[in-house]
Amino acid sequence: MPLLFGTAKFNEQEHLTIGGCDTVVLAEKYGTPLFVYDVAHIRERARGFKQTFNSLGVKNKVIYASKAFCCLAMYKLLEEEELGCDVVSGGELYTAIKGGMSPENIEFHGNNKTKEELSYAVDQNVGMIIIDNFYEIDLLSTILKEKGKQQKVMFRITPGVDAETHEYILTGQVDSKFGFDVMSGQATDALEKILADENLLLKGAHCHIGSQIFSAEGFLAAVEKMLLILNDWKKTFGYTVDILNMGGGFGVQYTEADDPLEPEAFVKAIVNGVKGQCELLDYAFPEIWIEPGRSIIAEAGTTIYSIGSQKVIPDVRHYVSVDGGMGDNIRPALYDAVYDGFLANRISTEATQESRIVGKYCESGDVLIKNIELPPMNPEDLFAMTSTGAYGYSMANNYNRNLKPAVVFVENGQDKLAIRRETFEDLIALDCE
Ligand code: LLP
Repeated sequence: MPLLFGTAKFNEQEHLTIGGCDTVVLAEKYGTPLFVYDVAHIRERARGFKQTFNSLGVKNKVIYASKAFCCLAMYKLLEEEELGCDVVSGGELYTAIKGGMSPENIEFHGNNKTKEELSYAVDQNVGMIIIDNFYEIDLLSTILKEKGKQQKVMFRITPGVDAETHEYILTGQVDSKFGFDVMSGQATDALEKILADENLLLKGAHCHIGSQIFSAEGFLAAVEKMLLILNDWKKTFGYTVDILNMGGGFGVQYTEADDPLEPEAFVKAIVNGVKGQCELLDYAFPEIWIEPGRSIIAEAGTTIYSIGSQKVIPDVRHYVSVDGGMGDNIRPALYDAVYDGFLANRISTEATQESRIVGKYCESGDVLIKNIELPPMNPEDLFAMTSTGAYGYSMANNYNRNLKPAVVFVENGQDKLAIRRETFEDLIALDCE
């Protein structure tokens, strides 16, 4: 039996169903490739994080990282679940506001926010701006002075923790483009500068050690380093944070081989770590914020592809082509990410053969799954690639002028289009003759 997430199961017709909806029917209705999101699973994840904090009696904010996947319908869901969101561009901010997010629950991140983006965020009264560098302190300060406004801010610190993950998604180490470095004293200089600025209302410190992290160790190391520096600042400047933001990065399961901690266990570990350090240092226990993206949305997403051409090179390889690829999921090509999948329209008992699932893009690196055991397939078959909900659609592109897929939300037997499929007209909409 393949690995099934959330509400996914097979019905009597041996079709994959998600949220009570038959994916074969969804594929007919919306076409393929199609992203199907299991809304109940998203809600369960969102509530899991919040309820764990609440059960521990800890003041908290769970802030969904929009970059993992966002659209109007997603923001509506976040509002329903009382989650905040983080945005990292004017575009994400615009979508969040249009999607009904209350500005107070939006925080703005990024290592190179432009003047226009910062002004827009200030005008919209976003709840928090996470200052990333010295350039931004000056830029934001100038904007606020011009507008005669004050803004709640945190500042991002790189605590110098090497988490075990892919180099491209590591962010907490010293040699990073993000945040103020502790070792060189830049974080302390930033603190002094921000405290001295009456337009900047400093609420706390932020760190994010990386992404797709399976154990609590890296977070605990970061907690320890953060509290040490915070305690130094308390002694030197008499400054104590109201909020400690530990970022996101909680790992998920893509295949059987992945064994991450449950979201609740990450929260408990962080809370206990902060409590322990605060007691040790006699530091006032702060509000704790986290920014999960992948762990809320990854396993909720499944991509349904149609099978197309196949090429068998005797004694070498069996290629199976699907009607999407690196345009709707660049993660295998970019990070060597490993995914799993199975037929969505029948449960086969035939002997399997080792196959390679490839896309339709003009590039040899357009591989979705390098090696997978699959039964003989034909062009009527549908292939479900699982756990594609994070950084799939959000990193989608139009290479070869292929169309971005549709996205459908399913829950309690109801399907709702969240993003329509692109059209050829969309493709030329920005072109000038
Ligand atoms: N907070 C901050 C400040 C971040 O930089 C990130 C991710 C998150 C939260 C959310 O991390 P998550 O919980 O989703 O792991 N495109 C890559 C992932 C890049 C993550 C960048 N920052 C991928 O496909 O794996």
